Amino acid sequence: MMSAPLILGIESSCDETGVGIVRGHELLANEVASSVDEHVRFGGVVPEIASRAHVEALGPTLRRALAAADVDLSQIDAIAVTAGPGLMGALVVGLSAAKALAFALNKPLYGVNHLIGHVGVDILDHGPLPSPTMALLVSGGHTNLLRVGNIATQIDEIGTTIDDAAGEAYDKVARLLGLAYPGGPVIDRLAGEGNPRAISFPRGLTARHDLERHRFNYSFSGLKTAVARWVEISRRDGVEISIPDVAASFQEAVADVLTSKAIDACQFHGIDTLVLGGGVAANSRLRGLLAERCDQGGITLRRPRPALCTDNGAMIAVIGAELVMAGVAPSSLDISADSGMPITQVSM
Ligand code: KG4
Ligand code: ZN
Repeated sequence: MMSAPLILGIESSCDETGVGIVRGHELLANEVASSVDEHVRFGGVVPEIASRAHVEALGPTLRRALAAADVDLSQIDAIAVTAGPGLMGALVVGLSAAKALAFALNKPLYGVNHLIGHVGVDILDHGPLPSPTMALLVSGGHTNLLRVGNIATQIDEIGTTIDDAAGEAYDKVARLLGLAYPGGPVIDRLAGEGNPRAISFPRGLTARHDLERHRFNYSFSGLKTAVARWVEISRRDGVEISIPDVAASFQEAVADVLTSKAIDACQFHGIDTLVLGGGVAANSRLRGLLAERCDQGGITLRRPRPALCTDNGAMIAVIGAELVMAGVAPSSLDISADSGMPITQVSM
């Protein structure tokens, strides 16, 4: 097998149209067109709007990526594309384009798991992941601890959220505070001006009786409810609410529980490298606290640069490169998108 394949990666699972190009572990281009502005007034992603935006953005984004990487389509060794999980109509746009390219160019197609893209994108910044690596995946729809034996072939789930995902909690809390969508970046910014110890919000599944069954699982719906109750009671009592304090205290609760369980999982499983991934991995407090606690625990932390944390095509391309280099068979041209693709399935 060639040592450093040139891979085109296409991502269209939600509201970002991403096209990335990598040569092995080297990032050559990462172009993203977002339809987020079209969803703001609805307070969340509207699937039909997202799908139409992908149709419009895909061609231009592909051309920009090829120009940025200074490569020609004919030079591409394989096409990688997000096959799931995500919004069905949105996934189908990227997958159809990828199939058409693979067919026209007569190159192999790899249907890739979006979530594994988030986990593996740090390879572009800091090289191959040691085996095993623990992954903390924190996105808008998922929160997981994963044992990565091999990013192309072997992923085991150590923990998951039993209700909301971390990003979902950010978006819901932002909405109840009257802040813009998506909530993560807004709360992150406001939290910088607030006091993280102003309000003591709950840390889900950390009580002793919960730890017996849910040591490595997360829960954020109680936290969201606690913030809602706190805001409601303050308003009722005519107490002035400091949004930065609420944001900082909420963020502290999220970062605290995400990091403490991730470190515990590393130590319990005897794994000394932790990789962070997903949109919430861009969060400044999570990145800072994780660095502090990994340092104390003797764990090597791998954090992709914030720009690679949110949805993009490069993360799909690098998984494509890993699959090619591991000798995994390509996907058939008749695969379907799987909006509920299981997290342990790297490719189709
Ligand atoms: O991974 P992602 O781009 O999409 C999914 O695969 O779901 O993650 C999007 C999520 C949103 O919930 C957004 O609010 C959150 O990532 N997010 C952040 C930050 N930037 C994005 N959450 C906290 N702090 C941030 N700086
Ligand atoms: Zn994502």
